[in-house]
Amino acid sequence: MGAKFLLVLVVVATVSSNCRVKGALDRGFYDDSCPPFEVIVSGTVQSFLDRDPSVAPGLLRMLFHDAFVGGLDGSPLLNSSGGSDPPERLATPNLSLHGFDLIDAIKSKLEGICPGIVSCADILATAARDAITLSGGPFWRLKFGRRDGRRSFFQGALKDLPSPFENTTALLKKFRNRGFSAEEMVVLQGGGHSIGVGHCPFFRDRYSNFSGTAQPDPALNPTHAIFLKASCDPNGNAAVANDHGSAHLLDNHYFLNIQKGKGLFNSDQEFYSDSRTRKSIDKYAASSEKFYLDFIKAMEKMSELGVLTGSHGSIRTHCAIAK
Ligand code: HEM
Repeated sequence: MGAKFLLVLVVVATVSSNCRVKGALDRGFYDDSCPPFEVIVSGTVQSFLDRDPSVAPGLLRMLFHDAFVGGLDGSPLLNSSGGSDPPERLATPNLSLHGFDLIDAIKSKLEGICPGIVSCADILATAARDAITLSGGPFWRLKFGRRDGRRSFFQGALKDLPSPFENTTALLKKFRNRGFSAEEMVVLQGGGHSIGVGHCPFFRDRYSNFSGTAQPDPALNPTHAIFLKASCDPNGNAAVANDHGSAHLLDNHYFLNIQKGKGLFNSDQEFYSDSRTRKSIDKYAASSEKFYLDFIKAMEKMSELGVLTGSHGSIRTHCAIAK
């Protein structure tokens, strides 16, 4: 009976995985229509990364900012909002996004081979996944079939993207609004901030004049405060590695830094003083296996957030131009 039941389950699972459900994301979405899709994406990401490792954090942050505002539909790539607002990419939290040239390079190669087939949203999701893997992070299989949005959400980017000056309660609310638990927020933030940089204006108050006290943030490790002060130029506009000591590797090292008071942003460090988030930091600092497993799950979820499929949206020819 057990064996028979298992056989039925396997057959059902096999049959259903072979049926393409219209409108659903699917691992084999481009198998017939654009077989070299993933090879082209990973090859292009690799060649850009060889020249400039900062491409990886650029793509990861762009994916996050896209997914959180109107769903993962390639909207930050658009160069016009189509209305009276400026485009989403000009909203303050998006001003330091980068990696647009890489997405354009992939798109142009794909348009040459399979015109009008692959969406900019699928390119972004896949390029970000590959950038993570090529930066020492995990690999996971993605589902495809996202379509591109026609709108860009300037106001949404101002309202929905997290700010490093917000407290844990406000950040928890923003993530909860997108369906993420406190633990998922922590694993995403720690993974995201284990590569890339932060510009001094986002944290200089922490080493100089925290909350108007003319003193450093008491939660900031004093040695790290000296390091940050020395790293920021006199105007305080330089960029400093998010993850001190492991700047280019996507790993669980940032959680160890937070435990030592070496988090870059006040918002990150506050997660360690808040009982709703502290235990997750300890968990991920103690185990890179747990970190990678949970990071993959949360990234899969983020990569499928509010996606357009089936007959919704479009497939853009140029990622910057809606059609
Ligand atoms: C928890 C709330 C978060 C806040 C308040 C926040 C804030 C910031 C800020 C202020 C920067 C520096 C930007 C700059 O100076 O140019 C930054 C960088 C970055 N963030 Fe976040 N972030 C959050 C969560 C996340 C998440 C969930 C991810 C991705 C999973 C992520 C990925 C990144 C990456 C990769 C960078 C480096 C970008 C680069 O080097 O170009 N962040 N974040």
